[in-house]
Amino acid sequence: MKQSRLPKFIFMSLVVVLGSISLTFAGSHGHKKDTKKGILLVAFGTSVPQAQKSFDHIADMVGKEFGTIPVKWAYTSSIIRKKLAKQGKQLDSVEMALVKMMEQGFTHVAVQSLHTIRGEEYDDLVKTVQAFSHLPDGFEKIIVGEPLLNLEDDMKTVTQAIIDNLPPQRTKNEAVVLMGHGTPHPSNAFYAALMFHLQRKDPLVFVGTVEGSPDITEIKDMMVEKKISKAWLVPFMSVAGDHAMNDMAGDEEDSWKNILGKAGISSTPVMKGTAEYDNMVTIWIAHLKTAMSYL
Ligand code: CO
Repeated sequence: MKQSRLPKFIFMSLVVVLGSISLTFAGSHGHKKDTKKGILLVAFGTSVPQAQKSFDHIADMVGKEFGTIPVKWAYTSSIIRKKLAKQGKQLDSVEMALVKMMEQGFTHVAVQSLHTIRGEEYDDLVKTVQAFSHLPDGFEKIIVGEPLLNLEDDMKTVTQAIIDNLPPQRTKNEAVVLMGHGTPHPSNAFYAALMFHLQRKDPLVFVGTVEGSPDITEIKDMMVEKKISKAWLVPFMSVAGDHAMNDMAGDEEDSWKNILGKAGISSTPVMKGTAEYDNMVTIWIAHLKTAMSYL
C-alpha cells in the first residue's frame, strides 16, 4: 500500500489565501506578511526535574539541525503545566503557543509531535492545528510532523535504535523489558508489533505497557516460560519520568520490578528516556525535516 507512505500533512486551505486577497481589495491590512518560519515542539510534558534532560537533548539537536529557525515548546498535559507553574515555570499549551506565534508574526509553522505513537494525544494535536489553519490573518501554512513510531519504515529504524541502545553491561541470558505507555487507542497495537520486530533480532527483548496491552503480567508469563531470571527495565517513553520512577522501578507492590521479583526475576532499571539517545531523536528530527520541506 504505497498511498499511506505520504504523510498526511495539514495545509492551510486555499480559501484562506483567497480570503486575504479579498482583504487586499478591501484596502485594509491586506499587505502580504514577510515569511517567518518557526518550529513548535509538542510533548506531553514532565514535572520530574531529572527527566527534563530528554527535552534539553531534543532542543539541542533540533537547534543544531535547523540553526536560525526559532523553536518553541508546548506541553499538552494541563496537570503538568499547573505543577510547573507553581514552581514558577511557565509552559504553554499548544493553543497558547500557537496564539503567541501568530502574534509574533510567524507565517509558516512546523508543529512536531514528540509523542511515541500516533495515539489520542497526537489526534488531539492534529485537531488543534486544523483549527489554527483556518483563521483569517493566521498562519499561511501550518503542518504537523509525525510521532516517533508512525509508519512501517519507522518500525525498522526504531527497532534498530532500540537494539543499538540495549544496556552494554547486559549478558547473554538476561532479558530487556521495555516499558511503553499504552493506550485504549487502536495504535496500541504498535507495541506488540514492535516486540515482534525486536524479537526477530533479539529473542530476549520484551515490550510491555503501563496502560495498555501487553501488560506486565503477560510479559512476566512470557519471561517465566523462557526461564529468565534477570532482566533490565528500560522506559520506551521519551522521558524517564513518573511512570519510569514509580510504575517501572518503584517500591510499590505492583511496580514492574516487584511483579517480576515475585516471579523470581531480578531486575535492574535503566533510568533513561528514549529522547536521551541521539539515534532516537534523529528519527523525530527526520519527521520534522519532512514537515519543514512542505512549508
Ligand atoms: Co501516563
